[in-house]
Amino acid sequence: MPRQSQLDQDMSEWELPGLALHHFLDELRAEGPLAKIEYYGMPAYLVTSHDGLMRAFKDTVNLPPERAYQMGIAPLIGENFQSMSGERHRLYRKLATPTFRPRMVDKMDSYMMQEVADELIARFIDCSQTDMTRSFSLLYPYIVIARLLGIPRDEEEKFADWVVGLLHFTSEPERANRCRDELWAYLDPVIEERRRNPQDDVISQLIHDDVDGVKMDDALLKSHIGIMFSAGSSTTHDSIGNLLYALLSTGEWNRVRDNPDLRDQAIDEALRWEPAVSFLPRVTKAGSASIIEGVEIPADSFVFMGIASANHDASRFEDPHRFNIDREVDAKSMTFGHGPRMCPGMHLAKMNLRTTLDCLLERLPNLQLIESEGAAPSGTIFRHPAKLLCSF
Ligand code: HEM
Repeated sequence: MPRQSQLDQDMSEWELPGLALHHFLDELRAEGPLAKIEYYGMPAYLVTSHDGLMRAFKDTVNLPPERAYQMGIAPLIGENFQSMSGERHRLYRKLATPTFRPRMVDKMDSYMMQEVADELIARFIDCSQTDMTRSFSLLYPYIVIARLLGIPRDEEEKFADWVVGLLHFTSEPERANRCRDELWAYLDPVIEERRRNPQDDVISQLIHDDVDGVKMDDALLKSHIGIMFSAGSSTTHDSIGNLLYALLSTGEWNRVRDNPDLRDQAIDEALRWEPAVSFLPRVTKAGSASIIEGVEIPADSFVFMGIASANHDASRFEDPHRFNIDREVDAKSMTFGHGPRMCPGMHLAKMNLRTTLDCLLERLPNLQLIESEGAAPSGTIFRHPAKLLCSF
């Protein structure tokens, strides 16, 4: 699609599969570090350059991160550390995320993750082909999260439905409200029980941990479980799909199968090449205009952090559109954000991706993409393949 007609279309409708997004972003970036777009009928802006994005992530005065969360998911699930600012954000982030620190993730049972991957593979291994999104990547992260939380096995799929439903708060508000009510009704007795009888699971840890004498009350516990696990699972699901697409569409599957030492680099490169969160919303401060990248922007405007654009900025990455597992990307990639809000789940996400990749390479060494339709990641805010029809 030519550029102007793309800009005439609302950003919420952009599909731009595969390299179409990145070529379009090249054109926008060439014109400047901030592009004007439209989002749900409102004028909005997109930060396009890598340097500009690093500045924008740190500019918590003009772009207070909590505002988008206060307007987005907080009215559905209540206050949580993402919708808090300053010291409160720091305190509750510390309380809510000890489970995800690298030391804790290292101690986590990767056997449990392998077991989940094996169970899912067993469901389709006797068929000649399968859609890997539907039969694997869509289910895997939700089941892992349910097991970390200590949800009984026969309730895992119900739990996954609620968690996915919460994320549809913009497009399907009624479904999101119903999922919230059912999830809260489910969690109330579980929290009460874990308060009395702590187990070795994440819910017990969230209940009993304190920071400077502060503990989470039940309302905060529920909103944190809702936000962390829905955001963490959908991004992991998208990233597994993007990783599979990257390896299968470029012929690198066989190389990482035969060279386990390349696997961590391949994961980092896939996270850079097609980040699951390609555009992340911020809202400018209330009351007065802000200057972002030299442009005056009215109060209360949407500014999107162009993570996918920064990750393909040629001033930072040589030959950026090439999926190149030999490059060193980790420090420069913006996939997990930057600054005070940087993703606390990134170590868990990477561990999930590595475990998944090892299992799939071992059980399905000859995995091949057999249909290109729907396979290239598409969409903007969350980006992933619609379908990965594969033989194995
Ligand atoms: C590959 C998978 C993932 C990607 C691409 C990703 C991406 C991101 C990004 C870009 C941010 C920054 C948000 C901002 O600046 O407002 C973020 C924050 C966050 N992520 Fe992740 N994430 C992933 C996995 C996870 C997992 C597995 C969890 C937890 C189970 C998680 C929990 C969070 C939380 C709670 C925040 C908010 C941090 C804050 O506001 O201080 N993420 N993530």
